[in-house]
Amino acid sequence: IADLRDDELRGRRVVVRVDYNVPIEDGRITDDTRITSTLPTLNALLQRGASLVLLAHFGRPKGKPVPEMSLRPVAARLAELLEGHSVRFVEDTVGREAHGAASMLQPGEVILLENTRFLPGEEKNDGPLAEQLAALGDVFVNDAFGAAHRAHSSTAGIATIMRGQGKPAVAGLLMDRELEYLGRALASPARPFVAILGGSKISGKIDVIRSLLPKTDHLLIGGAMANTFFRSMGLATGTSLVEDDRVEMARELLAQAGDKLVIPVDAVVAPRLEAGQTTTVVAREEIQADQSVLDIGPRTVEEFRRVLGTAGTVLWNGPMGVFEIAEFAAGTRGVAEAVADATDRGATTIIGGGDSAAAVADMGLESRMSHVSTGGGASLEFLEGRELPGVSVLSEAE
Ligand code: 3PG
Repeated sequence: IADLRDDELRGRRVVVRVDYNVPIEDGRITDDTRITSTLPTLNALLQRGASLVLLAHFGRPKGKPVPEMSLRPVAARLAELLEGHSVRFVEDTVGREAHGAASMLQPGEVILLENTRFLPGEEKNDGPLAEQLAALGDVFVNDAFGAAHRAHSSTAGIATIMRGQGKPAVAGLLMDRELEYLGRALASPARPFVAILGGSKISGKIDVIRSLLPKTDHLLIGGAMANTFFRSMGLATGTSLVEDDRVEMARELLAQAGDKLVIPVDAVVAPRLEAGQTTTVVAREEIQADQSVLDIGPRTVEEFRRVLGTAGTVLWNGPMGVFEIAEFAAGTRGVAEAVADATDRGATTIIGGGDSAAAVADMGLESRMSHVSTGGGASLEFLEGRELPGVSVLSEAE
């Protein structure tokens, strides 16, 4: 948005696509990071004399209105955060009410329209819908990094239409920041470049592993994903989650990566994935038949900390264990603290969105990371080296 001229903003209506797909429990927003992260963009546009029409999706209502997936509570939270500005929720997205409300906007005013996914054309990137959305304003700003991997009418479609009409379609400040941190990590990381990958399944991360392996100096593996590597090394895995159809692939990766791939040396095991279980720490060679691996062990945390101690860049995606349950949270906590210490030492530390961002937030360590991504699926696809359709259609992407 820095490239937008003053006359493109003063007295103009700017359509801003944001990702306000936030966790809500019993009607209460439990983490508003995705809302607060857009405030710099919104404030900058408002200060320059624009009015704002915000577009966002929430949940997966599959093209039909679902009352529990209304953006109304999100608008209420945004109104609290955007002090000094009128923020109004409009229970319509492209109908008469939405267009009417947009046309009445005065500079400094904001409306948030209803969930774009209530519209059947949204996820099909329907052209006529994109045109109706484009007619809501004079300029398009995409700040929805979290939805940038989706080619939908309100992300990619609207930008294409606006540009075809000679109107600006640019990235917001959050989008810029995300692309800068993730992009720099992949293109020119300060070395050593250490990636930490966790989570339950290799299958969801295999393309990230393949893409990162040649770029990183060390790739640390945790989470249930490590079990599949254990199996490929001929180790017993008890009742742990293992992806049988990925064992061969894990074996090949290990052979190909050599020392670069660091697999846990010990594990926290328990009979069942439940709070209140008696846990035991075992070497990876000693996993019993009636036990499940539910976290990395303390020796592994120490080994990861040692590797992280020299890192110039750290990229972390996926928890080390079932951190939502206290008994299995120590590995994720230990790694989060080691990454925070790396930031203090001067390393650039980047946390992928989704579960790892949630873990870091739970542990109160967000402010000690260089960048916590707001994109779950989007940051994964970016790290896989894939083009993000919401980004490639913006003017600056050329
Ligand atoms: C997310 O939460 O990762 C984004 O908002 C995208 O949501 P989706 O996976 O439902 O497209």
